[in-house]
Amino acid sequence: MNQEDLFKKIVAHCKEYGFIFPSSEIYDGLSAVYDYGQNGVQLKNNIKEYWWKAMTQLNEEVVGIDTAIFMHPTVWKASGHVDAFNDPLIDNKDSKKRYRADVLIEEHIEKIMEKIYKEVEKAKKRFGDSFNEKMFVSTNPRVLEYKEKIDKITKRFTNALENNDLEDLRNIIVEEGIVCPISGSKNWTEVRQFNLMFETKLGSVAEGANTVYLRPETAQGIFVNYLNVQKTGRMKIPFGIAQVGKAFRNEIVARQFIFRMREFEQMEMQYFVRPGEELQWFEYWKEKRFKWHLALGFSDTKYRWHKHEKLAHYANAAYDIEFEFPFGFKELEGIHSRTDFDLSQHEKFSGKKIRYFDNETEESYVPYVVETSIGLDRTFLAILSASYKEENLGEESRIILSIPPALAPIKAAVLPLVKKDGLPELAREIMDILKYEMNCMYEEKDSIGKRYRRQDAIGTPYCITVDHQSLLDRTVTLRDRDTMLQERISIDKIFDTVKSKTDMNTLLKKL
Ligand code: GAP
Repeated sequence: MNQEDLFKKIVAHCKEYGFIFPSSEIYDGLSAVYDYGQNGVQLKNNIKEYWWKAMTQLNEEVVGIDTAIFMHPTVWKASGHVDAFNDPLIDNKDSKKRYRADVLIEEHIEKIMEKIYKEVEKAKKRFGDSFNEKMFVSTNPRVLEYKEKIDKITKRFTNALENNDLEDLRNIIVEEGIVCPISGSKNWTEVRQFNLMFETKLGSVAEGANTVYLRPETAQGIFVNYLNVQKTGRMKIPFGIAQVGKAFRNEIVARQFIFRMREFEQMEMQYFVRPGEELQWFEYWKEKRFKWHLALGFSDTKYRWHKHEKLAHYANAAYDIEFEFPFGFKELEGIHSRTDFDLSQHEKFSGKKIRYFDNETEESYVPYVVETSIGLDRTFLAILSASYKEENLGEESRIILSIPPALAPIKAAVLPLVKKDGLPELAREIMDILKYEMNCMYEEKDSIGKRYRRQDAIGTPYCITVDHQSLLDRTVTLRDRDTMLQERISIDKIFDTVKSKTDMNTLLKKL
């Protein structure tokens, strides 16, 4: 199956099985806004719990907070978002569609990269075992031509972005012959900067309303509470503050399902350190965060590092963890060394001292910050894309979501073989044993085969089937989602068996 088809199937599957619905669907939806359904919210909550516990429970020096979405407007002036949280936009005059100029150019570069991959694939087939890829890409004239082109565009593009040269961004688009994917034309407007923050009004107009913003990142809620937490928690540097919450961005290129949304959730942690020690902590968190991803058990080839060559003016190091989504490797998490920029800015704009007195060095300073910032929805999409499988079982086939058991929306389904003879009653007894500790589902409708398929499709690790033998010897069959193997097991052992394989600790203990 090609990756585009796979992606379409995943999106359709999410809707069909109650994971994700388009927002306000009965009114034809709202672009780049989505609702989580009955299974989606369970998976999302489990991912949150995995992150939250990994941060705040396993690290004694990291505490969590939950700050408001609305913040004083000056916060966003101080953080630089009012002046610089912009995307360069361009419109196509024929289709009237709006694009991010930088994304159009990046996609153009990617297309040239694809041409290189195609040349390599062709050569691989032609030369067979004797093929030397390294030699081929460094000597083949066509590949070299493509590489030179990519280098030239990238250099000019980076330069234009760095110098805010909107005219040259447009020139690149025109000169490279980039066309609108809808109209196919090259009839472009000028490039303009567009701020991504949503504005609204606080208070009634009569009272003199204030413009406030929906926060575009959760991090600022942490920065402005740095002193509160440090003092009330008697925190000693180094320490971290973690938060999970909604963020809002008026994204223009809002596609790829929940990859780029206008309302989304972030899981962010700011780690406050001594100036001069930030790069050492940066390496520490890079390693820790990568481990968190790998513990999920997907192939490590699905993840890679991307180093930011062009750093924001306040950062002295930045890497992304990229994940191989069906539409290619894309950013999943950012790890940034943000220096003392944010706290210093808030000190300046608020007029309040935001300092730490270090008893060891007997110095007072503005702490430096290492940030880890991951999108909850993107993590959801990464897990679903890596878990979705179609399996051929001879006469039949099945769709299975092999979600890590600890994150699965439903840990076990309890299924009486028939709706009579006392089997439902015994099945209910088993539900009562399990339901206080884990999310389970009771199902008695349809054939047992159909019920197994439905549970496979939502990623339930275990199906517990109650049959007539169960009435005689209090045993049931326990079916494993991935292997489809069934073992007969005593009802007394069900709780421990299911719990030991689906508990959040199975993941946390790998960290
Ligand atoms: N405080 C730093 C910060 O916000 P970012 O790279 O802009 O950094 C962090 O965002 C993470 O938030 C990204 O790696 C991504 O996972 C997620 N994210 C950003 N914009 C998003 C969007 N429009 N939709 C879904 N997730 C998004």
